[in-house]
Amino acid sequence: MDATVELSWGARCAGLAFFGFSLCVAALGVVLLLARRWPWCSCHVCRAYLTGSWAREFTNLGDWYAHLLRLSPTGTVHVHVLGCTVTANPANVEYMLKTRFDNFPKGKPFAALLGDLLGNGIFNVDGGAWRHQRKMASLELGSVAVRSYAYKIIAQEVDARLMPVLTDAADRGAVLDLQDVFRRFAFDTICKISFGLDPCCLDREMPVSELADAFDTASRLSAMRGAAASPLLWKMKRFLNIGSERELKKAIKIVDELAAAMIRERQKLGVGSSHDLLSRVMVMASTGVDPHAADDKFLRDIVVSFLLAGRDTVSTALTTLFMILSKNPEVAAAMRAEAGAGEKGATTYEHLKGLHYTHAVLYENMRLFPPVQFDSKFCAAADVLPDGTYVEGDARVMYHPYAMGRMPHIWGADHGAFRPERWLTGPGASFVPANPYKFPVFQAGQRVCLGKELAITEMKAVSVAVVRAFDIEVVGENGRTGGAAAAPRFVPGLTASISGGLQVRVKRLHT
Ligand code: HEM
Repeated sequence: MDATVELSWGARCAGLAFFGFSLCVAALGVVLLLARRWPWCSCHVCRAYLTGSWAREFTNLGDWYAHLLRLSPTGTVHVHVLGCTVTANPANVEYMLKTRFDNFPKGKPFAALLGDLLGNGIFNVDGGAWRHQRKMASLELGSVAVRSYAYKIIAQEVDARLMPVLTDAADRGAVLDLQDVFRRFAFDTICKISFGLDPCCLDREMPVSELADAFDTASRLSAMRGAAASPLLWKMKRFLNIGSERELKKAIKIVDELAAAMIRERQKLGVGSSHDLLSRVMVMASTGVDPHAADDKFLRDIVVSFLLAGRDTVSTALTTLFMILSKNPEVAAAMRAEAGAGEKGATTYEHLKGLHYTHAVLYENMRLFPPVQFDSKFCAAADVLPDGTYVEGDARVMYHPYAMGRMPHIWGADHGAFRPERWLTGPGASFVPANPYKFPVFQAGQRVCLGKELAITEMKAVSVAVVRAFDIEVVGENGRTGGAAAAPRFVPGLTASISGGLQVRVKRLHT
């Protein structure tokens, strides 16, 4: 007994000594890092970043970056305190995403930032692990069966949930947070498409979803790690289990439990004849096509990655779309005319595909308000970007679609104007996509978004159904007033969302 007590005392002392030692090492690391970067960097960019003085003039960090990048002759700036090169130069973007793809991976620092939430899901891995998941996901998302299954789900969610919620709000004259409605819509849709399960978030009672809430908290806090001047800061907090890291750990635990419950539910329901992605992956395991797919952790990471991929991206794009349409009623009228103003009810996939003007409106909206506002890569070995910028090995390089959408050298002097016609340059004023390195809203090159077609179909289905039936009046927008492109205030996160939501009043066009 005495020996056990002594042993446990010994173990505790050793633990405390280790803890103290680790704390000292971490603190020394922070001091060294700050000493290396901060006090000696008195450039106005670093000072403005560290003191937050940029916020006096600009609504969002992205607006300030856009301003700095417009002033830069190369379209590239360096934020020394972050050790990060930020670029809005399409030639650099092409170099990183295509030409030298292997030298610009996501990298270990990024994997560490999001690793607790995303695990080894497709967004968070490079090399063989990424290639394997990409192949699997592109086979599934590209298959005709999955596409038509997805379209059916979108049409059902629009008809049976979204339209009744909006009709009800119109009849009651109620003010509605449209962003919340679209987030619920996108969450139900992605869960049904990806996992064959319906969380019923957009039911009339608007239930609270524990998974959606925990997921929001976890992605917000994971993104916050990336804004810290040094990774040692959040790593130390995680080690000590304090503050935001404690909150993050709790949120991730809830996400893990609920993802596990979803996987169990899917297994219970059977996977043989289901078209959802999770079932397809489980079939690969049971038929021996992919032994990884039998692993619960692998399945958990797929669930989390697809929630991240398909929810806030689509809901943000739809929210900013209706914000911008309310300022440009003639564009909403033209969409209505194109879709067939008098018709009601579900439309077909083929009909949606032919809506070129609507396609242009969606792209013009995402040019100004890309749902993923920036994306970071790590430069593996020192390199020189096409504009002559030298990048050290192991340094962070960020390309910035939000800033790129606001560059006169890319979009011309009217870059601030909302003008869908700029996309209608094909025969008969048909839609023509821009060079993807000028418009990397879905990323571009080898890691281009795998859900692009699905997202466009989803956004078309929603926007057409809504503009045909309703007029949406924005009554409470959180951005500053100004021209059509004036920016609302965004919550910093992995995917942009409008701080405080978008309060609207819905009016029926037909009785
Ligand atoms: C408007 C909607 C969307 C936008 C703007 C968008 C944008 C993006 C961006 C910027 C990336 C690159 C992210 C990164 O590597 O850090 C990406 C990747 C990806 N997206 Fe989307 N996305 C959208 C909708 C969707 C949907 C609905 C799905 C799936 C059902 C999806 C599936 C994926 C997947 C699987 C990847 C990972 C590709 C890879 O790493 O190889 N996306 N998307």
